[in-house]
Amino acid sequence: PDQLSCTFRQIDGITLEKQTCSLWEKIWAFQARPDDLLIASYPKAGTTWTQEIVDLIQNDGDVEKSRRSPIQQRQPFLECSIPGLTQWVKDSADAMPSPRTLKTHLPVQLVPPSFWEKNCKVIYVARNAKDNMVSYYHFQRMNKRLPDPGSWDEYFEVFLAGKVIWGSWFEHVKNWWRKKDSHPILYIFYEDMLKDPKREIRKVIEFLGKNLKEEVLDKIVYHTSFDVMKNNPMTNYTHDKHLNYKLSPFMRKGIMGDWKNQFTEAQNKKFNEDYEKHMADTSLTFCMEP
Ligand code: A3P
Repeated sequence: PDQLSCTFRQIDGITLEKQTCSLWEKIWAFQARPDDLLIASYPKAGTTWTQEIVDLIQNDGDVEKSRRSPIQQRQPFLECSIPGLTQWVKDSADAMPSPRTLKTHLPVQLVPPSFWEKNCKVIYVARNAKDNMVSYYHFQRMNKRLPDPGSWDEYFEVFLAGKVIWGSWFEHVKNWWRKKDSHPILYIFYEDMLKDPKREIRKVIEFLGKNLKEEVLDKIVYHTSFDVMKNNPMTNYTHDKHLNYKLSPFMRKGIMGDWKNQFTEAQNKKFNEDYEKHMADTSLTFCMEP
């Protein structure tokens, strides 16, 4: 089974929203600027968290400035617009002064070539597959723009088969990992951010070529902690009318190892077998045990 329906189409075998597919030629022709920063991830890997960290770094830790508008408006979403909330990227990004920061969930092979030609910096955030899958399941339950995930057991199979929107988790994380050998990509992990946010934020500061005082760094750690972001209307997606908070919050748990509450023993066994096969050809490793 897959999640293709009248509202979804495929580009090169990757299922994407119909809106993305119908605008595909324009998205592919997107003109990046050399000082653009791209934040890339598989959905539910910690994108919003990384976005807020980056925005605070760019604004030297000025919290008021980072509260100027919802994160979706501060950093346009390359392949999607949210009706009633964000314009299509061409309109919003063209009007933005440099340096711009954009977000994408596209697999690396579908990123518009101009980002590579202009040698734009990219931050890729990855999260272990099991927690990523659980988070994506709950997100699909509450997001009216994505397909109904069905039962957890059904979703488990669909996700493992890579038939979800934005494609296979395995191919996504592996291909981005490979790309960093030939391009300026800072590849970070959700689990590392949880374990030592200060160290990871320092990496981002360095990658962006900024120099911030220790107290500013501490301030950014605090303002991007789960509880603060959950209560911040500019980062918790309460502006997005397509999300049904009665079913699940956007800022749901923000932990590692939640998969243990969701996977059955048999699912875990099957998952581990599949995982080994898919990950045999990469040096990329993840931490799944808290
Ligand atoms: P959970 O559903 O596991 O809670 P994305 O921004 O890519 O959609 O990812 C959303 C996931 O990141 C959600 O995971 C969300 O709770 C988590 N998240 C967002 N901000 C976070 C933060 N500051 N600290 C920890 N987790 C965060």
